[in-house]
Amino acid sequence: MSEATEVRVYQPSQDMVSNAAVSGMDAYKALCAEAERDYEGYWARLAREHVTWQTPFTRTLNEDNRPFFKWFEDGKLNVSYNCLDRNIEAGLGDKTAIIFEADDGTVTRVSYSDLLVRVSRLANALRSKGVKKGDRVVIYLPMSIEGIVAMQACARIGATHSVVFGGFSAQSLRDRISDAGAVMLITADEQCRGGKNIPLKPIVDEAFGMGGCESCKTVIVYKRTGGACNMVAGRDVWLHEALEGQADTCEPEWVEAEHPLFLLYTSGSTGKPKGVQHSSGGYLLHAILTMKWTFDIKPSDVFWCTADIGWVTGHTYITYGPLACGSTEIVFEGVPTYPDAGRFWKMIQDHKVTVFYTAPTAIRSLIKAADANDAVHPKSYDLSSLRILGSVGEPINPAAWEWYYQNVGGSRCPIVDTFWQTETGGHMITPLPGATPMVPGSCTLPFPGIQAAIVDETGNDVPWGQGGILVVKKPWPSMIRTIYGDPDRFVKSYYPADFQGRYYLAGDGAIRDAKTGYFTITGRIDDVLNVSGHRMGTMEIESALVAHPLVAEAAVVGRPDDLTGEAICAFVVLKRSRPTGDEAKQIANELRNWVGKEIGPIAKPKDLRFGDNLPKTRSGKIMRRLLRSIAKGEQITQDTSTLENPAILDQLAQTL
Ligand code: WT7
Repeated sequence: MSEATEVRVYQPSQDMVSNAAVSGMDAYKALCAEAERDYEGYWARLAREHVTWQTPFTRTLNEDNRPFFKWFEDGKLNVSYNCLDRNIEAGLGDKTAIIFEADDGTVTRVSYSDLLVRVSRLANALRSKGVKKGDRVVIYLPMSIEGIVAMQACARIGATHSVVFGGFSAQSLRDRISDAGAVMLITADEQCRGGKNIPLKPIVDEAFGMGGCESCKTVIVYKRTGGACNMVAGRDVWLHEALEGQADTCEPEWVEAEHPLFLLYTSGSTGKPKGVQHSSGGYLLHAILTMKWTFDIKPSDVFWCTADIGWVTGHTYITYGPLACGSTEIVFEGVPTYPDAGRFWKMIQDHKVTVFYTAPTAIRSLIKAADANDAVHPKSYDLSSLRILGSVGEPINPAAWEWYYQNVGGSRCPIVDTFWQTETGGHMITPLPGATPMVPGSCTLPFPGIQAAIVDETGNDVPWGQGGILVVKKPWPSMIRTIYGDPDRFVKSYYPADFQGRYYLAGDGAIRDAKTGYFTITGRIDDVLNVSGHRMGTMEIESALVAHPLVAEAAVVGRPDDLTGEAICAFVVLKRSRPTGDEAKQIANELRNWVGKEIGPIAKPKDLRFGDNLPKTRSGKIMRRLLRSIAKGEQITQDTSTLENPAILDQLAQTL
C-alpha cells in the first residue's frame, strides 16, 4: 500500500464487540498467543471442545512423514453424526436446518430430524448398492437439499465424495470420475437456473461414452424436473426408487480422523486438475471454528452462503460448517439475477438472513444492476436482519467493499473478507467481526493459530511493507492431505524445494501493511487465473484450445476486468494462415464454444486474438509477461530484442 492512498479503518460496533465469540482485539491476541506458546495444545483443546469424538484422540500432530501431516490420528468420529445426530441429541431436532429456495421461488424447510432421516435413508441405499468405506462417489447435482443429503450420506458411511460443479462439461466430468476411480455417481435429470431447465443427465451419458468411467457401476438420478431422461438399464436408477424401503436410521461408520472426507478437483498450473484430498477430523474442526469465530454464528442466526456445493466454499459453509453448528441456513438453487437482480436482497428480506456470505463478482454485477434500476437496489428492501457480511473467492476492490458495507450492511455490519483456498479447507486470513478493525481491500490478519507469513524466493521473511510470497509456516488441522493418486505432485506444488519443504506455498503473492501488518493479497504467482472467483489454470485452457483441429498453438493469460476480477485472454496460432475480419470472429466463436465444451462455460476466453506466431525467447519460451501487457492494452516497454518477429506484437494487439 503506498503512502499516498488514504486508508479508511472501520471499527466493529461496540454492540458487536460485546457479544461476539471473539470479543475485542485482546481476545484475538490471547488466542494467537496461546497457539504461539503451545501449538499442539491449542489445537487439541479446540478439537476436544468443538468436535464430538467417538474415540478421543491422544496424539495431536504427527509430523513424522512431512509434509504428509496427520492430525488427531488415533481419534475416531463421524462427520455426519457431528452435523446431525449431536444437534438432535442437544434438543434441536425440530429446528429448521435448511430453508431451500428453488429457482422459481418455492420454499422448502427441512428440520434437523427430517434431514437425519433423509441422510440415513440415502446412506442405507448407498450401502445396499455396495458402496463401502473409502469408496469414491462422484456427485454431479444442482444446488438442492438432495445435494447436501448426498454429501452427508457419503460422510455417514465413510465414502469419500467428489462433487463436480454442475457447470462442468462431459469431458471434465469424465476426467474426474476416472481419476478418482469412482464406484458411483449421483446426478439429476435436469437443473433449473434463471427460469430455464438445463439437462444434466445427457452430460453424464456423454461422459460415460468417452470411456474411462468403467469403475462406476451405478448412477443414481434425482428427478428434479421430470423432463425426458434416458436411463441405462443395469446402471441407472432413480433416487426415489433407490430410497424405497430403506430404513430411517443408519449407524454411522466411525472413521479415523485422517479418513478422507472428500476430494475436490481444482485447477493448478499444469493442465490436469488436482484432486485435493481433505481429512474428516481436522477439516470438520476448522469448519466449526470458522463458523463460530469468523461468522460469530449464534443459535438465532439465519446463515446464507451463496456459493455452489461444487466449490469448496459450498462444502465448508453450506454442507458442513452451518450444520455442524446447528444453525439454520439458506440453500438457493437459482441465480442472483432471476427473476431480477434484486433476488438476493429479496431473499435476505423474506428469510430474515442475519449472516450473508457472497463473492465480489456477484456484488459488482449487482451494483451495476442497482445503479441502473432502483427497484433492484438494496435500499428498496428491508435488510435490517443482517448483522455480518462476508466476501470470498477473490480480492474485493475497496469501491465494491464500501458499497456492500453501506448499501447492504447499512453501515452497521462488519464485512469479513475471508482469504482461503480449496486446499486450506476454511478461512486462513480474515477479520473477526467483533475484534478486527477493517480496512477495505485487506483480508487483515490470520485466523488465530494460522501461521501465515510473507517470504522471498528463498523462504526468508520479508519486512512489512514489502511484497512477497504467501506461505503458511506450520501445518494446520484442515489443510489438504495429498493430491489424490499423485503424492509427488502434492509435495512439488505445496512444499517445494525452494523453501526446503518447510512451508506451505499458497500460490498467491501478498503484502503486509507497514504499520498494521494487515495482509493484502496481490494475486496468484503461478499460472492460475481467478475469473469471477473461479479458479482456472492457463495450461488447462491452452490444452483445450490446441485440442481443436484448427489450432497449432495457444497461450492464455489473464487481464484485469471490472466485473469478473480477471478475464481470460487467449492468443492463438492456427495451422492455416491468420484469419482476419468476419472469418476471425467466426473462428474465435467456434474456439470459445469448443473450450466451453471441453472444460465448461466458465473457461471460455473473453478475448481471443490470432497471430502468425507467439512471442518467444530464443530458447522457445513463450514470453507471457509480454502477452499480459498486450492483453491489458499496454504499450510494450519490455525488451523485445530477442523476438524473432516483432511484427507479431502488432498482430496480437489487434482486437477482433
Ligand atoms: C484462490 C483460491 C476460498 C474459496 C473460494 C476460492 C483467491 C480467495 C480471496 C480473498 C483475495 C482470494 C486466491 C486463492 N482468493 N479468497 N478473500 N482475497 N483473494 O477457492 O478456487 O481454491 O481459489 O482464490 O487467489 O489462492 P479456490
